Amino acid sequence: MIKNKTNQSNKLYKKNLKKHGVGPKALLWKSKGAAHQRFREFWKEIDFTDKKVLDIGCGFGEMGKFLLKRYKGVDYSGIDIVPEFIKEAKIQVPGGKFEVIDFLNEKIDGSYDVVIASGVLNSNSEGNKINGDNMNYRKNAITKMFELTTKTLAFNMLGAHPQPKNDPTSNIWYADSLEIVKHCMSLTRRVVLRANYHPRDFTIIMQKIRS
Ligand SMILES: C[S@@+](CC[C@H](N)C(=O)[O-])C[C@H]1O[C@@H](n2cnc3c(N)ncnc32)[C@H](O)[C@@H]1O
Repeated sequence: MIKNKTNQSNKLYKKNLKKHGVGPKALLWKSKGAAHQRFREFWKEIDFTDKKVLDIGCGFGEMGKFLLKRYKGVDYSGIDIVPEFIKEAKIQVPGGKFEVIDFLNEKIDGSYDVVIASGVLNSNSEGNKINGDNMNYRKNAITKMFELTTKTLAFNMLGAHPQPKNDPTSNIWYADSLEIVKHCMSLTRRVVLRANYHPRDFTIIMQKIRS
């Protein structure tokens, strides 16, 4: 079931890469600025210095480029489901390590201080026939990503509270941000919601509780 969804999204990204070439539109961003606006929310909350970082759905590794420039001692790895994106990321970010992996269906080795995912949980994975399924898809992905970090998970998502109206024919789906927060708080009480930078996008930072 999940595998079918990831194949669908893989196809869509490949089609966009063919149409637009290497750049933000291949990654379904409106512009570079839209991607960078989301990145800034991560470094407002997280000090990446000397951190081992896993960037899930890294695209062309743009986030890695920034992290390696801005912070000392960053050990940056990026994974993506689209082989063509990883091929380009290896060229654009020689300081990073990259691999083709579907994070929902394949095993990820290693342990990471910080796991990040920008723009990865935005798609309307079921043609929006069943709204609840889009929500479960997101909750399942968050749980998986949180298992991969020893300290911090940070991700963003399209959505807000109240939940914006969804167009069934659209490639994107807006989540109810508070329902997502509730799920995150079932995994840890240390949750930050940043919802002040965009009317229909929010960022969540989750920390593991030290025992
Ligand atoms: C909107 S793009 C964002 C790319 C990058 N994070 C950025 O901000 O420039 C979302 C990325 O997530 C990747 N992706 C989607 N589902 C994935 C999965 N199950 N495993 C790995 N990557 C996935 C897509 O291939 C795509 O490159």
